[in-house]
Amino acid sequence: MEGFTASTFGELNAADYDQLHDPGTTAETVALISELAGEGAILELAIGTGRIALPLAAKGHKVSGIEGSPEMVEIMRGKPGGDAIDVAIGDIADVDIDGPFDHAFLVFNTLFNLQTQEDQIRCFHNTAKCLAPGGTFLVETFVPDLSWFRDGQRTTTRRLDMSSVWIEAALHDPVRQLLEMQRIRITEEGMQLIPLPMRYAWPSEIDLMARLAGMTLDHRWGGWDRRPFDASSTMHVSVYRKAGADE
Ligand SMILES: C[S@@+](CC[C@H](N)C(=O)[O-])C[C@H]1O[C@@H](n2cnc3c(N)ncnc32)[C@H](O)[C@@H]1O
Repeated sequence: MEGFTASTFGELNAADYDQLHDPGTTAETVALISELAGEGAILELAIGTGRIALPLAAKGHKVSGIEGSPEMVEIMRGKPGGDAIDVAIGDIADVDIDGPFDHAFLVFNTLFNLQTQEDQIRCFHNTAKCLAPGGTFLVETFVPDLSWFRDGQRTTTRRLDMSSVWIEAALHDPVRQLLEMQRIRITEEGMQLIPLPMRYAWPSEIDLMARLAGMTLDHRWGGWDRRPFDASSTMHVSVYRKAGADE
């Protein structure tokens, strides 16, 4: 989607992100990452408004972040503890960041905000570069389901009442594995367009990206509650490990 850059999501969504983007899994996400991280230094890619990073920091973890949108970080800065987290503003595919970190994570399908396979591969390389030997990279994404689309498109009604309707329209390009979406909000005040492109990948492709960056799969679960990943899973939480110093 031309013109959609690392900062566009925040420009369009920061003001109502916390209100409208609650996946309902925050407590489980924080608990799992906290347990995996132990005492280690943590880096969150695409830290957003601090949904995960702030509760981790409140539990005593040392957390830093990368974020493409100054607007999202501004919201985090206004929350308790938000000023204490170091954030590098830049693209998760190539921002230069000082490490080493023991753990990195990228959740809530944000890997798919990178619109090409090449960008996603660069993101894995960039993350591996700032991880200590033996460090881990946790990634959460949905599992693509081609039955969502008919004739290369899908239109869904998200909300509807007497005076407003929220519609999501998507075009699907199976060759580029690209979903180009417009969220259309029509209210009495007028119409708002909120674009979102997503380049999806199956878990097997994500494993290959990790391998290209020198990381191998340690764990894969079908949910934050560590349920097994199988053919019925609609999402996955995958943990990759960078090779250790002696490997
Ligand atoms: C769905 S939100 C997730 C935020 C946070 N991690 C959470 O779980 O609530 C996606 C975030 O990724 C950021 N983002 C999108 N593309 C990016 C990129 N290429 N580089 C850096 N940040 C990016 C957006 O600004 C937004 O804050």
